[in-house]
Amino acid sequence: MNGSKGVSLTRYLIEEQRAGRINGDLRLLIEVVARACKSIAHAVSKGALGGVLGDAGTDNIQGEVQKKLDVLSNEILIEANEWGGHLAGLASEEMDHCQPIPNVYPKGNYLLLFDPLDGSSNIDVNVSVGTIFSVLRCPDGVTEPNDEHFLQPGKTQVAAGYTVYGPSTMLVLTVGHGTHAFTLDREQGSFVMTQRDMRIPGDTKEFAVNMSNLRHWHPPMRRYIDELLAGKTGPRGKDFNMRWVASMVADVHRILTRGGIFIYPRDLKEPDKPGKLRLMYEANPMAFIVEQAGGAATNGYDRILDIAPSKLHQRVAVFLGSKNEVEIATRYHRETQ
Ligand code: AHG
Ligand code: MN
Ligand code: MN
Repeated sequence: MNGSKGVSLTRYLIEEQRAGRINGDLRLLIEVVARACKSIAHAVSKGALGGVLGDAGTDNIQGEVQKKLDVLSNEILIEANEWGGHLAGLASEEMDHCQPIPNVYPKGNYLLLFDPLDGSSNIDVNVSVGTIFSVLRCPDGVTEPNDEHFLQPGKTQVAAGYTVYGPSTMLVLTVGHGTHAFTLDREQGSFVMTQRDMRIPGDTKEFAVNMSNLRHWHPPMRRYIDELLAGKTGPRGKDFNMRWVASMVADVHRILTRGGIFIYPRDLKEPDKPGKLRLMYEANPMAFIVEQAGGAATNGYDRILDIAPSKLHQRVAVFLGSKNEVEIATRYHRETQ
């Protein structure tokens, strides 16, 4: 348990507040998000018995089919967060535009962004899914935020986290002072710290990528993966193993636990799109979490957290995880610029 036995999320957050690293509003906001994630965990775990599997019969703004759990998780997060008084607005992968806090409720200074249910393709086959969230400050003087107020680079995030609904439900969180993991104690109903200061090893022998897209990749991406596949007798001089859950939360969680590199590159399958994953709801929070654990995150060329967003639903290529691997993959891309 890493010397952290019995420290609940509530206690951890109060201690962070006492140390002057977060204020009371941010503490309560994270508590509310964690509570919403517990409700989602409950819904996910019921599976077919809860009638939550299958398609919702609608598409989101990206043209992706929404699952019932995408819609339900989105509703749970909105309902939990809109009346708490900590937020000025929220934005979700599943909503076309941001949603200001209704005027009947008090407003706060933060903006919340989330991917309510990550890994939708895995819901119906009983494989891990998750929730990803990011917290930004609302610009000074803005009480009715619109989409533009959310377009801040990832390095301005004040908190980010994800919950993975796996064999156990875990919440992984950073407020900019390390990355810590909490496991849901279902009897107590609370998240308990099970790993303080997660560290991603700099070197790895494991990569995560959807290999079925290989024929669509650009030359530097092909070169990088070819060298990994060449193993011991190739230029890298070691054998690599591969894993691909197809839920970013689960793949990133494995990398935080034992190292690795996660890649979703830009490719020629959809040449107009700069990648599949979303900058604001997936790449930015994960990059913050990974950097706080000693890892790195780029789009193949630049640090993810430095990217100035231009659209709420912007897509981006993602290379993240063990620092030395991310550096090699990024160097290959830069060399062919
Ligand atoms: P979402 O379910 O929120 O749309 O995200 C799915 C993402 C990500 O979780 C995962 O890494 C990736 O899509 C998997 O993509 P492929 O199905 O193309 O492998
Ligand atoms: Mn996702
Ligand atoms: Mn999603």
